[in-house]
Amino acid sequence: FMILTGRKGGQHVNPGIKKDQPKVVDSFTMKDIEDLMKKDKNGVVAICRCWRSKNFPLCDGSHTAFNKTCGDNVGPAVLKK
Ligand code: FES
Repeated sequence: FMILTGRKGGQHVNPGIKKDQPKVVDSFTMKDIEDLMKKDKNGVVAICRCWRSKNFPLCDGSHTAFNKTCGDNVGPAVLKK
């Protein structure tokens, strides 16, 4: 029972992204991913998993500062060709 109720209040994974929606889902087609890869100098796409990016759902590096504040070790999912 504690597991089911443990994330109430300020313990949400998502601190503030699209809170007006019941569920945050971001979908990408292969073309979307390929277009994003072309824009990046290294040809990769990094998907945010810390929920702190100002460019969500893409990683903007905010996970580094977040990890320093709380001692966590989260980082992006990196898509490569
Ligand atoms: Fe969230 Fe990089 S900013 S994983």
